Amino acid sequence: MILVTGATGNVGRHVLARLQAMGRTDARALVRPGKAAHVSVPAVTGGLDAPEGLGEALDGVTAVFLVWPFLTTRGAPAVLEAIARRARHVVYVSSIGVGGPEERDDPIFRLHAAMERLIEESGLRRTVPRVRAARRVRDHLRAHHDAAPGPGHPRRRPAVARDPGGPAGPARHPAHGGVHIMTTVVFGARGGVGRHVAAGLTAAGVPVRLTSRTPDASHVRADLDAPQTLPAALEGATHVFLYARPAGIEGFVAAARSAGVRHVVLLSSAAIVQPGAARNPIARDHRIVESALEESGLSWTFLRAGMFATNTRWWWSRTIKSGEAVRLPYPEAMTAPVSERDLAALAVTALTERGHGRQAYTVYGPQALTLREQVGHIGAALGRAIPVEEVTPEQGRADLAATMPATAVEVVMRTWAAGAEAVPETSVIVEKVTGRSARTFAEWVCDHAADFR
Ligand SMILES: NC(=O)c1ccc[n+]([C@@H]2O[C@H](COP(=O)([O-])OP(=O)(O)OC[C@H]3O[C@@H](n4cnc5c(N)ncnc54)[C@H](OP(=O)(O)O)[C@@H]3O)[C@@H](O)[C@H]2O)c1
Repeated sequence: MILVTGATGNVGRHVLARLQAMGRTDARALVRPGKAAHVSVPAVTGGLDAPEGLGEALDGVTAVFLVWPFLTTRGAPAVLEAIARRARHVVYVSSIGVGGPEERDDPIFRLHAAMERLIEESGLRRTVPRVRAARRVRDHLRAHHDAAPGPGHPRRRPAVARDPGGPAGPARHPAHGGVHIMTTVVFGARGGVGRHVAAGLTAAGVPVRLTSRTPDASHVRADLDAPQTLPAALEGATHVFLYARPAGIEGFVAAARSAGVRHVVLLSSAAIVQPGAARNPIARDHRIVESALEESGLSWTFLRAGMFATNTRWWWSRTIKSGEAVRLPYPEAMTAPVSERDLAALAVTALTERGHGRQAYTVYGPQALTLREQVGHIGAALGRAIPVEEVTPEQGRADLAATMPATAVEVVMRTWAAGAEAVPETSVIVEKVTGRSARTFAEWVCDHAADFR
């Protein structure tokens, strides 16, 4: 029996499809809770982040297609040990960058190199293609399984990991008669959300082009306000993660259409679906961008985000760092802060899996918390009580104005005032779409405690 991990991901899906096309009825998919309906073979629920629960999933398994979607090898030895206890063979898709000149400076290449070493040490028979394009993985697996069709008896073949010039050589550009690489362009790849989109796509093995208005060795120049920069940034791209810039959207649509972009995931705003949208400049700006994409003929997914958890850094980090009380006009107002990592996870799913075209997801955090409770969570992470001082709305507005533009100040004040009157909406869309629970504000604070120290 063959166990396919990452079975709902870009590569895993194709591996499963290929196994089925080959008539292999002994494939099984390891999926996160709630994802069984996303795969067309028998599924076992589990996760590589919980190796202690892998026993049942590995029952009767002789070969594992292993996807490692994490940015650290932490947990990998336990997973490989669990696999080695039952199975004989592991197929791991590594990166073309391993062993190359950039390995030392690139965290993803270093991660793959470390995974290769752990796999080598596991004692498992291994096939470790070093690839750049998902297609190469399919080709490699096809070759492997064609050569060893017996169920559960993969023939020993030399691993190709130490042969970068061999069958897993770099994917070529279609113009050169090679493999077509589906490149995803990430706008704002240094941004709060964009950087996690970039990391998530890279971890999933998706070829990415990172962009910024300030280019460097790893970022291509792209400025949505300067349309002449867009054709080069989008050349050959099929997918895009986009920030909303109303002034630049017409130029973007034109450049994306001529580049052959198929799908755009837009970071939009929940203000669009909230009361008072017509008078809200933030809603208006985001809606302009959404409308242009709806009319563009491109496929799109909108992530209409509610209040970001990161906003608390702008509002409160200075006062908390200096040991002063946090001044709040509505301490008992509730909001449902959303984590930038969850937005990125949604974007990665919408960019790598089918079924998200023409979908607008409204994304709030998983819990409604009062502002006082949010300050309390920050205090708990710092190990000290943070005093809260109630101030008038006028004083609160003046405090906010020191940290954000006037339009944003009014929107935040209105949101807080509404949150003092009624419990705000939360959402389950993160779990529904990605299969992973949304991060709570307490978890977000743990990741960002240093920002408040
Ligand atoms: N904060 C909230 O509560 C909230 C709520 C709902 C929706 N949102 C949406 O989320 C966005 C903020 O996301 P974030 O926290 O990830 O932002 P961020 O950390 O400020 O990053 C914004 C990114 O946008 C890029 N960018 C800015 N102007 C650009 C231009 N002209 N052309 C190309 N790229 C440009 C920047 O890239 P470079 O500087 O590298 O060029 C930067 O990486 C808001 O603008 C809004 O659309 C926010």
